[in-house]
This record gives sequence, structure tokens and C-alpha cells, in this order.
Amino acid sequence: MTDSSATPAKISIDNVTKVFGDERSERHTVALEDVSLHVADGEFVTLVGPSGCGKSTLLELIGGLSTPTSGTLTLDGEPITGPGLDRGIVFQQYALLPWRTAQANVELGLEIAGGLGRRERAARAREVLDLVGLDSFRDRYPHELSGGMRQRVAIARSLAYEPKVLLMDEPYAALDAQTRELLQVELLSIWERTGATVVFITHGIEEAVYLGQRVAVMTARPGRIKTVIPIELDDRHGDGDIRSTPQFTHYRHQLWELLHHEITRAARLEAEPTRPEEAVHVG
Ligand SMILES: Nc1ncnc2c1ncn2[C@@H]1O[C@H](COP(=O)(O)OP(=O)(O)O)[C@@H](O)[C@H]1O
Ligand SMILES: [Mg+2]
Repeated sequence: MTDSSATPAKISIDNVTKVFGDERSERHTVALEDVSLHVADGEFVTLVGPSGCGKSTLLELIGGLSTPTSGTLTLDGEPITGPGLDRGIVFQQYALLPWRTAQANVELGLEIAGGLGRRERAARAREVLDLVGLDSFRDRYPHELSGGMRQRVAIARSLAYEPKVLLMDEPYAALDAQTRELLQVELLSIWERTGATVVFITHGIEEAVYLGQRVAVMTARPGRIKTVIPIELDDRHGDGDIRSTPQFTHYRHQLWELLHHEITRAARLEAEPTRPEEAVHVG
């Protein structure tokens, strides 16, 4: 793209449908249906929705780890055809290399990204491990770390090389509240410093409001974008407790209502045996 007057969104998702299994069989799952979402360069979007509504599926599509059944996904105006170093992904389940220490796992991202010498890589890895509170665990192997610590190593690995796009799938879900809040603040400061574009899935309403410039709410399966709420908070980084301000409470309540409706609907769908006319998706 050389024409900057027609700046495309950083990430464009247009009319994306994803079906798992054979559409003609009763066993198929329509995970996403006609999903469109545009994320601007440098924007921080959080994504919430009932469990099983297709959030991870959507993130995997943006990450280039799978392809849509129909519809298009582009990054900087170019079709997404596979994974790339321009997108750092943090999954719910972390894949650390068991034969590498925490430090060496973090350095791995930097080795792949290239550009830094060995000493710089080591220094940078130490820096981000400090940041996630693992300075004294640098030399431990994954099996010597708790689940929460392994997650923090994986988060450190993705933060270390500062990718242009960060895709995060409930990265803080298993952390204790204090660590989570620390890492939220840290992520915001990294985001501001690097101008990265972030898509962050969470099931925490507070987390969605605190981090997101916009919160995209998905419907129960088949997942669609139900609504996108712009979050306008005066002073996210102020000294005060932003979470107890009237603005914050308003957004939290609004999101709670939207989600509650979808979660109830999802539970009802789960309880009902699938009727044949529903199972055969016509589309
Ligand atoms: N590889 C797959 N094969 C078949 N079905 C899948 C696969 N991945 C996800 N699904 C189904 O697609 C739906 C959406 O899943 P997912 O994206 O993981 O939801 P979420 O992350 O919102 O909890 C679920 O019904 C899930 O069972
Ligand atoms: Mg998921």
C-alpha cells in the first residue's frame, strides 16, 4: 500500500464464516457466521463472548493458523495466508520448549525475529522476565515452573520482540488478581510505547473495559459480532482507582447485560437437543 490517503484498517475481517466439519453432515459446527470487524493501526480491541462462541477461532484466523470457509481477512490490506512474525500470538495454552530455560524460551522469539546480537537478546530477555516478575526464575525449565509462571514466560516471549500486532487469547485468565493487574498496566504501557495493534480476548468484563479502546461483543454460537462498544475513560492511567468511577461502572454494567443475555442463550442452546432443521445449516 503506497497510497496513504486510502489507509486501510490494520486488520480487516469481512463477512467471515468458519465451519468445522462437513457442512452437509449433521455434525458440523458453524463457529463463526458473517463476522466483520476492522481494527485500526495502533488500536487496542478487546473481544468478549460466551464460551464456545468462536473467539479463539477468530484469533486463529487473524494469526493465519487456519483459513475461513468464506469471507476475507487482510493485514495491511494484504490477504492473510499464513502465520508471520508481524503477529505475535499468546494462546490460552502456552507452548514453551521444555528443553529450554525460561530465559532461553524468551530469547527464542528474539532469535526468530532476528536483528539483535546474542548479548542484546540476553539482556532484552532478562528485562522482560523482570517485568513479568520472573527475574529469579530465569534459569528454570518449564517443568520446574507453576502454570502461572509458564504463562508469564510465554507472555514475556511475545512481548520481547514487540511485534506490530499482538493477538492474545485469554492470556491472563489463570493468573492471580495482583499479577493480572500488574501485567495489564504493563501491556498498556508497551502498547503505548510501541504503537502495536492489539486484539485481546478475555472473559473478564473489567479487563475488557480497562484495556480496550473498543470492546467487541460476540453472540453465542454461531458467533457473530453483536455490538462494538467504544470505551471512553478520562484517565486510564491516573493514580485513582479507575474501576470504581461512574464511567467505568457504566460500561461494566452495559457489557454485563449484553453478555448475560448471550450466556443465557448459549446455555439454552446447549440444553436443547439439536433439531434436524437447525443442524442442516443453509447458507
Ligand atoms: N478444530 C476444531 N474442530 C471442530 N470444532 C471446533 C474446532 N475448533 C473449535 N471448534 C468448535 O467451534 C466452536 C468455537 O470454538 P472456539 O473458537 O474455541 O470458542 P471460544 O474461544 O469462544 O470459547 C466451538 O463449538 C468449538 O467446539
Ligand atoms: Mg477460546
